[in-house]
Amino acid sequence: MSSDKVTIFLTGATGYIGGSVLQRLLAHPNRKNFEITTLVRNTEKAKRLDKEFGVKTVVGALQDLDKLATLAENAHVVFHTADCDDLNAINAILNGLKARHEKTGDLPLLIHTSGTGELMDDARGAYASDKVYSDIDIAGIEALPPTAIHRPVDLAVVAADAAGYARTHIIMPSVIYGIATGPLFDTGIANPQTIIFPLYVRAAVLNGHVAVLNEGATIWADVHIVDIADMYIRMFDTLLSTPEKVSHGREGYFIGENGEFVARENLQTIADALFAAGRISSPKLVQYSDANIGPYYSKAMPATVAEYGGQMIARVAFANTRCKAERARRELGWAPTYTTKDMLAGLPYEVELILKRLDAEKSA
Ligand SMILES: NC(=O)c1ccc[n+]([C@@H]2O[C@H](COP(=O)([O-])OP(=O)(O)OC[C@H]3O[C@@H](n4cnc5c(N)ncnc54)[C@H](OP(=O)(O)O)[C@@H]3O)[C@@H](O)[C@H]2O)c1
Repeated sequence: MSSDKVTIFLTGATGYIGGSVLQRLLAHPNRKNFEITTLVRNTEKAKRLDKEFGVKTVVGALQDLDKLATLAENAHVVFHTADCDDLNAINAILNGLKARHEKTGDLPLLIHTSGTGELMDDARGAYASDKVYSDIDIAGIEALPPTAIHRPVDLAVVAADAAGYARTHIIMPSVIYGIATGPLFDTGIANPQTIIFPLYVRAAVLNGHVAVLNEGATIWADVHIVDIADMYIRMFDTLLSTPEKVSHGREGYFIGENGEFVARENLQTIADALFAAGRISSPKLVQYSDANIGPYYSKAMPATVAEYGGQMIARVAFANTRCKAERARRELGWAPTYTTKDMLAGLPYEVELILKRLDAEKSA
């Protein structure tokens, strides 16, 4: 490797967000100046990333803390997209960055993935809140309880910046939607779909109807996968060219949203698509209460999120997380193009693909 190459370490390469970011890095005009290393737990996918895409891969999991720390230490830029709630993993990454700084004097850059779930209230579908967060209102973000989801990890990231051994940036996507496309997805290496919609569809199919908690009046912000991947790349580019333009540390929060939706409306669109596909007997939403919503989701939880339980999923799905992405627009020139209208228009297609996946799982 020539010493002037930008060393990059990325987690979550086989995921929806990480795959989208990696794909943009691979298509970047300066690709030849990047040395990209990823941590991948599926051996076969690791081999293919290496062979077919020229990406150096290390087989391992976020739980391999020593490996994680070493990989972070070897990189000037770290994109962490794999799991925004794994405190041990972020601590290992930060230890690696600290070691790098102490040994080489380099000030490494961390682009960490969090989520606007951190902003959620406890409305449980009952009402639409007036509270709208902004990522330029740091006092508002700092007032969040340290127990909020994603918050313990974000606080560790901010503390690292304050300690002076890394520059840290936290991207907070809202609900990401849209089918990710391109070579990494077409070859089946990366996951093309978001987390929450498959869960909704799975739950509806298993229960025979689509549930709504209380009035389903709560509001979530949303962003398209293409637009959020663009935010990561704009941040990366700006950090390499004019780092002073990019806020970091306690001010380095970058919300990703370009619109918002009411839970009930989103679920009705899913119910209509499932009814049209003959998977539920009526498109009418069935109203649940706090007391009985848990089991509706529990039976549909894939192993990856089972630890949260159905009640917790319902609290997240039916919370208000209203927010404005002001910082990326100001500092990175981020200009998302997809809106909530696109999300709702694309949902029937997303549902169709989820059903295909469920059918394939069943017959496997
Ligand atoms: N999608 C959204 O709407 C959204 C919005 C805000 C925040 N987020 C957060 O962003 C993160 C990534 O989301 P995503 O939508 O990209 O999820 P995803 O498609 O499920 O991708 C997760 C990626 O992380 C990897 N990974 C997970 N646990 C790992 C472990 N223990 N060791 C090694 N690799 C591990 C997965 O590897 P495998 O392929 O081996 O599973 C995959 O590459 C999550 O923490 C999520 O909560 C997502």
